Amino acid sequence: MKKITVAVDGPAGSGKSSVSRQVAAMLGITYIDSGAIYRAITWFFLEKYGDIDSETPFGNGIKGLDIRQEYYSDRTTKTFVNGLDVSQLIRSEEVVKSIQWVSSNKAVRDFVTTLLREWAGEKSIIMDGRDIGSVVFPNADLKIYLDASVETRAKRRYDEYVATGKNVDLKAIKKQIIQRDSQDTAREFGALKRCEDAVFVDTSDMTQDQVVNKLTELIENQDSV
Ligand code: DC
Repeated sequence: MKKITVAVDGPAGSGKSSVSRQVAAMLGITYIDSGAIYRAITWFFLEKYGDIDSETPFGNGIKGLDIRQEYYSDRTTKTFVNGLDVSQLIRSEEVVKSIQWVSSNKAVRDFVTTLLREWAGEKSIIMDGRDIGSVVFPNADLKIYLDASVETRAKRRYDEYVATGKNVDLKAIKKQIIQRDSQDTAREFGALKRCEDAVFVDTSDMTQDQVVNKLTELIENQDSV
């Protein structure tokens, strides 16, 4: 297989991460979780300042920050900030609540875009996020836009939380998803958008395996493979 770059974008809960991990494992390529980087940077600034907002000096603080990510053959990823494994810490409610300040900051977005391009390097990769097809890899071999109804996405998140023993409220999760959608689509830089050249896949009535098969098929039908 020749080098291939696959960009998977879509809103929260559209299944990007689970599907991309599975596709990467099946094809023996690397998966990169760009959302984890925004989460890791948010975690770092929350540790540093206690609380953050649009006035936080992200641009200065980010210089020299050492962020790494590793993808393992069992489909898991680990994200490190200055050598510390933050993979679990970045999944907290506190991080989600404050992430909008970080992900809307231009200096942060430029830093992350450079990092993601460096990581991809010469490898075949599948990367998921919000601006992968539009900003990070506008020339990706294949762009996918995954979506699903708000109800489906909220239910998926709810099931994930319940599976990890968390006591959550479906209505509250739905509200949070609607809020994240508007933050993701409204920001000035790196907004979530459906590129014209992206293949649109509505996963509302599809199982995870069906989506994985669809993506694998699309990748295998690429000229460059
Ligand atoms: O995919 P996720 O839910 O882990 O992403 C966490 C946050 O990071 C999400 O609120 C949007 C932001 N993000 C972004 O702005 N750009 C990306 N390429 C990926 C994520």
